[in-house]
Amino acid sequence: MLIKVLGAAAGGGYPQWNCNGRMSKRARFKEPGCLPRTQSSLTVSANGKDWVLLNASPDLRQQINETPELWPEADGPMRQSPIKAVVLTNGDVDHIIGLVNLREGQPFSLYASDRVLATINSNSVFNILNPEKVERIELAIDEPTALSGAGVDLGLTIEAFDVPGKVALYLEDASKGDNFGTEKGDTIGLKVTETATGKSFFYIPGCAAVDGPLAERIRGSELIFLDGTLYTDDEMLVQGLMPKTGARMGHISMSGPDGSVAALEPLDIKRKVFVHINNSNPTLDDNSPERKAVEKAGWEVGFDGMEVRL
Ligand code: MLT
Ligand code: MN
Repeated sequence: MLIKVLGAAAGGGYPQWNCNGRMSKRARFKEPGCLPRTQSSLTVSANGKDWVLLNASPDLRQQINETPELWPEADGPMRQSPIKAVVLTNGDVDHIIGLVNLREGQPFSLYASDRVLATINSNSVFNILNPEKVERIELAIDEPTALSGAGVDLGLTIEAFDVPGKVALYLEDASKGDNFGTEKGDTIGLKVTETATGKSFFYIPGCAAVDGPLAERIRGSELIFLDGTLYTDDEMLVQGLMPKTGARMGHISMSGPDGSVAALEPLDIKRKVFVHINNSNPTLDDNSPERKAVEKAGWEVGFDGMEVRL
């Protein structure tokens, strides 16, 4: 099974178009060690020929152009794509908007939870994906789903599970209290298994906390790509970017006693990679003390084009 990180940044990307924060500036002015990153997506293939997108970011067109595996075969038919399925983990703008890049009548399967499918179904712009060619399939929670698309068995099985999180920003309903109307299925994690070999990895780009059930689920696993939005819960306030904490946004931070580095430390996970990294996060700088700290704790900071073979 081959996995490629298409985009390792969170919503807005790195640098973000309107952001004058110190981290965005450093990427914009090409400071060494501050590698730009596009928005949040991975791609995975069991056979190296047929590919599944895990989330479809607003930068998908650029990501496809930079990833030869996702190009039409040079001597193939006039209309063709190796992308056979897309799986969504929530309704974030940074995870769904790339779907509109996949128009042009190409068949593939679209998998998402009932909650996220309801959002897609309620917005007619997504009908640009011809319903006769793009099947929308509800992902059952806590049950294995064998992926297929465009008539091809993709050799991958997905298990979707609910994780602590928050409904997408544009769906927040303040009248519904502290959780803004968040329901089961708004934020899911994925266990992706290569059907033939049983090899598997976890992909959880949005996660508010590593609670007991999540810790037990991922314990002892081979590989995880986890929400790396912020290093410290209040870094966006401290940097003067916006008055929101990670907790308010539904994202666990890397550092601190309840952070992801501490939470995963005892779980014996072989390889740990941060993705969905916000443009305020100092670990985006290869040479920062925060970067050194997470690396010392056994983590890698994801980057566009990162390849992992399992
Ligand atoms: C998030 O990850 O919290 C969202 O992508 C935020 C946003 O939509 O700007
Ligand atoms: Mn996001």
